[in-house]
Amino acid sequence: MRVIRCESGGAVCREGTDRVFALLKKRPDAILGMATGNTMVPFYAEWVRRFRVEGVSFRRISTFNLDEYVGLPASHPASFRSFLAEYLYSKVDIDLSSTHVLDGCAKDLGAEGRRYEEEIRKAGGIDLQLLGIGQNGHIGFNEPGSPLDGRAHVVELAASTIAASRSAFPKGEEVPRQAVTIGVATILEARSILLLATGASKAEAIVAMVEGPQTAGCPASALQRHPNTTVLLDAPAARLLKR
Ligand code: F6R
Repeated sequence: MRVIRCESGGAVCREGTDRVFALLKKRPDAILGMATGNTMVPFYAEWVRRFRVEGVSFRRISTFNLDEYVGLPASHPASFRSFLAEYLYSKVDIDLSSTHVLDGCAKDLGAEGRRYEEEIRKAGGIDLQLLGIGQNGHIGFNEPGSPLDGRAHVVELAASTIAASRSAFPKGEEVPRQAVTIGVATILEARSILLLATGASKAEAIVAMVEGPQTAGCPASALQRHPNTTVLLDAPAARLLKR
């Protein structure tokens, strides 16, 4: 795991975009694993800004989202499908038919998870998996306690995850209590992984991920066993690291 401390949240986004765009220049048909959440908003904004000036094309890439809320239709403004449409897909030249999501409204969510992971395999696997991290060390929605060799599954969201997600939902609307996510083992199959974390609220999760034992108590700690993971941090997120 390579850990890089950047001078600001803006620098995290710029460094991350450099890496994504270098891949797209080398492999215009790259397969990207997409994350959502507040950390990703300025990151994708940087992609859009650079897309407009650098002429890198998204036309031939394919994407697979990490996760989705259970019971939320793709058309809901807080769905992760809507998130990517709003912050990225509507602003670049991506082919929407190559963007894949888990269906949180599927009747049989177990079968949906298996279908989705099979689709990732058939596409040839993820070249670059983008990740944020939860305050409790979750990746995707693999909450603490999720097995480090686990596959797609339905998860009960932690109280801290629900609280952190509230701002994305219309006022008065409840955040779903469950989500469907690809598993930690599936994330680890990506050929490269790029995790971004900014802000002091992530510091404890970051130190557990980088310096703690590999344990289901901190699912992100499994990234220690991945051969090609880069972590980009701002100073507040890195502040508890000893090494
Ligand atoms: C979202 C996801 C989550 C977020 C994490 C951090 O697709 O998989 O793991 O990356 O909860 O969210 P923010 O960036 O909102 O702090």
